[in-house]
Amino acid sequence: MRLEGKTAIVTGAAQGIGASTAKRFAREGAKVVVADIMDSGIDTVSEICSLGGDAHFFRLDVSHSEQVQDLINYTIEKYGSLHVLCNNAAVNLPGTVEGLTEEMWDRTMNVNLKSMYLTCKYGIPEMRKAGGGSIVNVGSANSFVAEKFLSAYVASKGGILMLTKAIALDYAKENIRANCICPGWLSTGFNDAHAALLGGLDHVLSGLADFQPIGRAIEPEEIASIALFLASDESSAMTGSAVVADGGFSAQ
Ligand SMILES: NC(=O)c1ccc[n+]([C@@H]2O[C@H](COP(=O)([O-])OP(=O)(O)OC[C@H]3O[C@@H](n4cnc5c(N)ncnc54)[C@H](O)[C@@H]3O)[C@@H](O)[C@H]2O)c1
Repeated sequence: MRLEGKTAIVTGAAQGIGASTAKRFAREGAKVVVADIMDSGIDTVSEICSLGGDAHFFRLDVSHSEQVQDLINYTIEKYGSLHVLCNNAAVNLPGTVEGLTEEMWDRTMNVNLKSMYLTCKYGIPEMRKAGGGSIVNVGSANSFVAEKFLSAYVASKGGILMLTKAIALDYAKENIRANCICPGWLSTGFNDAHAALLGGLDHVLSGLADFQPIGRAIEPEEIASIALFLASDESSAMTGSAVVADGGFSAQ
């Protein structure tokens, strides 16, 4: 029970990596607030509770300051403290700079990057009161490596890596750590719109081994394992780090 006695918020936890992470945290003893813009986040909570875990759902748009403040307040009301913040929610709106509307650019930056500034701005004071905490930001292999037709997304993911490092430096002395996970390709549906611009999902998947050497999609549970490690005291020496989990994509 590596998160016994801890309270965690996981954003974007209605499905995919976030849902797997919320369930994994709960199995390790954490009380979890499942935060998502989609009402189906309640399904993640039901699954956790049916297995004897403790979780609540909070619906919000992570790019809205007041809603993020409400999320932090809700967590403190329900559980009394905050120790782990897993910032996972994101959108993938593909396009070149000419192809993207300004609304798509702003939405990408606000949901993917500004949201992490907001959750940390309002969550860190609660971690301080708890004597410390662990922030786990979900970046991407695109935090390091760009791809075609993905300009806003890669810019947001590069920003997440540097924001993580900045937070790590600012709060290291207060026992508040911040690390970043950088996954490669998963088959969660998150990449479907981008795949359409690259010749279609079937075409991309048939060439998967060419860009992701392990030759298969990464599973959400594989990323959840890393999130658990970074959230727990097992990674106590790590802050400002990026854990690359991209099946060899960026090794080439
Ligand atoms: N799927 C991949 O191949 C891949 C690769 C690298 C990084 N990632 C990153 O992993 C994370 C999760 O991706 P996934 O594959 O599980 O995607 P997903 O689409 O399955 O899940 C994303 C979740 O975020 C939620 N969300 C979106 N906008 C939101 C908002 N404004 N407010 C609150 N919730 C919001 C969605 O409702 C959804 O539940 C993202 O940060 C993504 O950038 C994914």
